[in-house]
Amino acid sequence: MKNVLSEAIIRLREITPNLPIPSFQDVKEDNDDPDYVEMSMFSGVGYGFNLMFEENVAVAKWFSNAGAIFPMHEHGELEVITVYSGSMTLILHDRDTGDPKEEICLYPGVCYYTEPNTPHSAYFTEDTWYIALTVPASEAWPHG
Ligand SMILES: [Fe+2]
Repeated sequence: MKNVLSEAIIRLREITPNLPIPSFQDVKEDNDDPDYVEMSMFSGVGYGFNLMFEENVAVAKWFSNAGAIFPMHEHGELEVITVYSGSMTLILHDRDTGDPKEEICLYPGVCYYTEPNTPHSAYFTEDTWYIALTVPASEAWPHG
């Protein structure tokens, strides 16, 4: 499984470096709320727009462009993700080695959640919008 995942990411990096990287202004048109965060990505962009932020839950609308790779990370919060435009490939990693162990394709109508402290990453082959929430609220997310 690791080789297949690595090949997919290598191929994605080969075919996408010349794609335009959208700026925040490019994706801002339906998001007048200036309260957003820009995630640190391996490639491409990841913008998060606050929808709700309370101590026990944070909800945000996210955008990543075609070619974006969200690096492996983990956090103590449960995270629920649902794509509503485009698609995302979520990768779950082994807790001990960090090696990729499972790939989950999320597209409109599919919802997935990661348990707390589960290492995960993601990549995008098309411009994608999704909603995600954390329980409790993640301090890294846009605040209201
Ligand atoms: Fe996450």
